[in-house]
Amino acid sequence: MISKPNPTIVILPDRAALARDAARRFVTLAHTAIESRGRFTVALSGGSTPRDLYALLAMPEFATQVDWTRVHFFGGDERAVPPDHPDSNYRMAREALLSKISVPDPNVHRIHAELGPDDAAREYEIELRNFFQSQDTQVNLPSFDLILLGLGTDGHTASLFPHTRVLDETERWVAAVYVEKLGTHRITLTVPVINAAKNIVWLVAGADKADIVRTVLRGADRPDDLPAQHIQPVNGNIVWLLDQAASIKLNE
Ligand code: 6PG
Repeated sequence: MISKPNPTIVILPDRAALARDAARRFVTLAHTAIESRGRFTVALSGGSTPRDLYALLAMPEFATQVDWTRVHFFGGDERAVPPDHPDSNYRMAREALLSKISVPDPNVHRIHAELGPDDAAREYEIELRNFFQSQDTQVNLPSFDLILLGLGTDGHTASLFPHTRVLDETERWVAAVYVEKLGTHRITLTVPVINAAKNIVWLVAGADKADIVRTVLRGADRPDDLPAQHIQPVNGNIVWLLDQAASIKLNE
């Protein structure tokens, strides 16, 4: 049994409060990173939960607190669709945040899913290596300042789905994966890259997530059934932001 350090769990009354707490953390982490390293690197989660956070960050209350010219946005994962497709994680982030702030185009490092999953993964890994190695010649894993993650009801996160080969990937930074249950390909950061992050923030809301939250956080270690359990940052901080509804079964 891997002795897991108890992750920090913060329970917020509702989705809006969760988004606000996450926005405050984003701004604080951005200030710290920009102050110490001159830049802030963040990998965005897809799905619906983070949309409220992105929309809040785009509001003047938060947008005016960040020097967006120092922020570099990356995708944590992407669907195998073009960037204007309704399912595109990039499209959601662009509409909710990226199109509303003054972030320079070169600072938005999009996964070019329209190339097809394998080429997109290969190209994105090159982009990451060029970016992170240009700052530190000896880097063997990129260390994002912040990686945002969501949790699927099957225990997946990013596009790390149960019983997929990508869960065993130890060398590549980005992988293409065929997700049987969805009948589609995805492109995703791999487990070693996520675990190399300086900060991981989980964004989980809704009563439909209560069972999986309890299973992942309180249940037995079954990381291949529950890929979220593979997320154990080597040196970084990890915090679970849950709304009341998603946390309701934690102490059952
Ligand atoms: C994606 C996400 C995925 C998401 C979970 C939770 O591409 O869909 O990266 O891992 O975070 O499926 O999604 P919700 O936040 O919409 O419940």
